[in-house]
Amino acid sequence: MEKVRAAMIGVGNISGIYLKNIHERFTDIELVGVCDLVREKAENAKEKYPHLKIYDSMYDAFRDDTIDVILNITRPNDHYEVSMEALKHGKHVYSEKPLASTLDKGIELVKEAEKRNLYLGGAPDTFMGAGIQTCRKLIDEGTIGRVIGANAHMIGHGPESWHPDPEFFYKHGGGPIMDMGPYYITALVNLMGRVEEVCGMAKASFETRTITAKEHYGEEIEVEVPTYVDGTLRFESGAVAHMFATFDVYYPHAAMIEIYGSEGTLYVPDPNWFGGEIRLFDSNKEMKSIDMEFEFTDNSRGLGLWDMCACIREGASPRAGCQQTLHVLEVLRSFEKSAKSGGYVKIESPYERQKPMNKNAETEGRIL
Ligand SMILES: NC(=O)c1ccc[n+]([C@@H]2O[C@H](COP(=O)([O-])OP(=O)(O)OC[C@H]3O[C@@H](n4cnc5c(N)ncnc54)[C@H](O)[C@@H]3O)[C@@H](O)[C@H]2O)c1
Repeated sequence: MEKVRAAMIGVGNISGIYLKNIHERFTDIELVGVCDLVREKAENAKEKYPHLKIYDSMYDAFRDDTIDVILNITRPNDHYEVSMEALKHGKHVYSEKPLASTLDKGIELVKEAEKRNLYLGGAPDTFMGAGIQTCRKLIDEGTIGRVIGANAHMIGHGPESWHPDPEFFYKHGGGPIMDMGPYYITALVNLMGRVEEVCGMAKASFETRTITAKEHYGEEIEVEVPTYVDGTLRFESGAVAHMFATFDVYYPHAAMIEIYGSEGTLYVPDPNWFGGEIRLFDSNKEMKSIDMEFEFTDNSRGLGLWDMCACIREGASPRAGCQQTLHVLEVLRSFEKSAKSGGYVKIESPYERQKPMNKNAETEGRIL
C-alpha cells in the first residue's frame, strides 16, 4: 500500500504521542519531517526518530514536493496561519483543535480547502475511540429509547499546574470552551446529531493566573478569555443539552457526559479519552456497566489523521473532516456570542454524522 507522506508543524507538549503512534501504530503514514520555531524541539524529536528531516521553517515543509499532508499541532492561535499557508501550497491538512480561533477564520479555511479540492481534517479524534463509539452504537440501537437531553461538565482548575508553557490557554483562541469544549461538543454531535441553537453565559472569575508548573513557576498570565462558560444547546432532533466548561473550579470528580433517553440514561466516558467506563441506568432503575465493543481504548491520538490519510488514498470522506470541525467551532464560538448579545444564537453550518468505526480496525489494519 502506498504510504501517505506527512510533515509535522509544531513539536510541543502533545507531539510525543503523535510521534509514537504514527511510528508504532499508524504505519501506513510516513512522517518525513518536523518543524518548530524552537529548533531544539525538532532536534529532540530527531534524536528519538533519526530518519526525520528537520525543516527550518514551515514553508520548507510546504514546498517539499514529496509531502502530501501537513499535521498542524501548533497552538490554537497559530492554527489558521499554518493551515491556510499549507492549503495554499497544495497540501492536505490535519489540524489539532480547534480548527481556528474564530468562526470566520474557520469558514475561510474550509472554503480554501474546498476550492483546492484538498482534505482538511482535525482533532479531536477521541470520538473515534471505543468509549464514544460504543455509546453511539447503544443509542443508535435504541437502548435508551428516544434521546431527549444531555448534561456535560468539564470542570477543573486550569492547566497552569502541569503544562510547561500554559499561557496560550488564557489567550485569544484558548479558554475552557475552546480548549476542552471540542472534545465534548464533538462527542455530543456524534451521539445526538446537529446542533441548531445555542445560548450561553460566560465570565472570567480571575483576572490573572499564576503558573505552578516548574518551567515557568511563579509567572503571571493575564486572562483574556472567559474561563467559566455555561450554556444550553438545542439539537435538530429536539433534544436539549447543558454544557459547563470551566478552568476556575476545584472539583474532585472526572468530567463526564450523561445522555438522557426516554427509556434510560447513558453515562458516557470522559470524551478527552478514547476508552473509559460506560454505564447504563435503565427504566428498571438498575445501573450496569457496559463492555466496550470497539478497539482504541488507550491514547490513540493520530487516529483521525490515519483515517484521513486512508481517505486521501481511496477518495473517501473522513470521519474527522472539516464539516464536523467547522460545526463544532461554530457551536463553541456561540457560547460567548450569546453571552455578549444576551440572545439565542442560530447555528448555520450543516452537519451529518460520518460512518461509525469498524470494530476491528486496528487488528485488521484497515480503517475504511
Ligand atoms: N498538551 C496537551 O495535552 C494537548 C492535548 C490535546 C491537544 N492539544 C492541542 O495540541 C496543540 C498544541 O498543544 P501543545 O500543548 O503541544 O502546545 P505547545 O505550545 O507545547 O506546542 C506548540 C508548538 O508549536 C510551535 N509553533 C507555533 N507556530 C509554529 C510555526 N509557524 N512553525 C513551527 N512551529 C510552530 C511552537 O514553537 C510550540 O513548540 C493545541 O492546539 C492544543 O489544543 C494539546
